[in-house]
Amino acid sequence: MADHIQAEFISSVNEHSKCPKDHLAEFAFIGRSNVGKSSLINTLARKKGLAKTSSTPGKTQTINHFKFENRWYLVDLPGYGYAKISKTEREKWDLMVRGYLRNRKQLVCVFVLVDSRLEPQASDIEFLNQLGEEGIPLAIIFTKTDKLTKNQLQSNLAGYQKKLLNWWEETPPIFLTSADTGLGREEILAFIHKHVG
Ligand code: GTP
Ligand code: MG
Repeated sequence: MADHIQAEFISSVNEHSKCPKDHLAEFAFIGRSNVGKSSLINTLARKKGLAKTSSTPGKTQTINHFKFENRWYLVDLPGYGYAKISKTEREKWDLMVRGYLRNRKQLVCVFVLVDSRLEPQASDIEFLNQLGEEGIPLAIIFTKTDKLTKNQLQSNLAGYQKKLLNWWEETPPIFLTSADTGLGREEILAFIHKHVG
């Protein structure tokens, strides 16, 4: 698939009503702080620095639209599950992110990013289940797979799928990725292209 893909930053806003007014299809990236949402956007775009990243959790604080190929958006969202956050901040996050997820009509799919190195985290499971209950289409992206051996990755993946089956009849689509090696890039772009038509 396209080595080069056109991608540009469009806007950074703090509420869903201020998002772009056109009606292009949108795919959102959500997940715990520091899981690698912004990094993976840069890897998909093959453009370092397109989305701002940091080794400190809590870097992305707003709803960020990146337009790809002039026909669809990737939306970078602030992370959840960061312990050192105040109650007011948490409420602000809820309003902004849930407001976006519930109201954005052109939202095609939410990619929920989870750290492939960790046991299933309560905050991720809770978030996935809430999306499921609200009928919002989702896919799961395992990040940072470059930090695991093949065996560890297979075992963590199997463990995750098993855990999900406690609540889900079948597991959502799952992608294995690395922002460092580019693993999963083609598969995610193919998935998006299939939905954009
Ligand atoms: P917030 O905006 O704070 O919610 O975080 P985020 O999910 O956008 O994470 P970000 O992309 O800023 O990455 C967090 C840290 O993880 C950075 O230090 C990245 O370099 C690192 N990182 C992200 N993806 C990968 C990956 O696939 N492999 C490795 N080894 N490191 C990664
Ligand atoms: Mg970020």
